[in-house]
Amino acid sequence: MEKRIRKANVGDAPALAELAAVTFPLACPPYHSAENIALHLEKVLSRDAFEGYATNPDIAIYVAESDDDSLVGYVMVDFRPCDDDEVAPLLRNVEPTAEFSKLYVHPDAHGSGFAQQLLEKAAEDAQARGCASLWLTVWKENVRALRFYDKNGFSVVGDRFYRVGELLDHDFVAVRVFSKGD
Ligand SMILES: CC(C)(COP(=O)(O)OP(=O)(O)OC[C@H]1O[C@@H](n2cnc3c(N)ncnc32)[C@H](O)[C@@H]1OP(=O)(O)O)[C@@H](O)C(=O)NCCC(=O)NCCS
Repeated sequence: MEKRIRKANVGDAPALAELAAVTFPLACPPYHSAENIALHLEKVLSRDAFEGYATNPDIAIYVAESDDDSLVGYVMVDFRPCDDDEVAPLLRNVEPTAEFSKLYVHPDAHGSGFAQQLLEKAAEDAQARGCASLWLTVWKENVRALRFYDKNGFSVVGDRFYRVGELLDHDFVAVRVFSKGD
């Protein structure tokens, strides 16, 4: 597949929501109910939500397109200050920073290099806006994502726990500090 990465626009919102519905469950702990997943998709990854992200100047979304123009992946970089009480103290030494958020690639394109290209674009953007690092959270048993982040220079700096209904999820917080060669 040819790799084409571009900045998303508001017209991408429906396709982004569709892709999110396929890919978000892959990043979730398997014990989450279909109802919880549907609720998250509706609140955070719906067409309306993506329209909001795409028009927010503090957020950048990049999409990966396959050669038939369909979206096969996306990433969001969130430049707003971290408002999570557990995570913010972990970022004090790596600021200014931005959240590398919602990296999702369609399963047919895993291992294709799209994720890598999306990461590079996000890193380029963050550096151009003066960031010293990128940070992210990832479910602690998402081994594929953990390996991907590790090989791309992210180091785990702590934990983040959050309640979803009756359940407590355990994520790792990881940071990539930019070096001169990045
Ligand atoms: C996370 C994601 C973006 C990474 O993209 P990708 O194209 O799959 O990444 P790559 O293939 O380049 O890298 C994955 C690595 O994990 C390895 N891997 C795959 N399955 C694995 C497993 N079960 N255990 C350990 N490593 C595994 C691969 O071999 C590869 O490592 P290598 O390059 O050293 O061989 C993609 O898998 C994805 O969209 N997953 C679903 C959504 C998700 O989890 N997003 C992250 C949310 S934090």
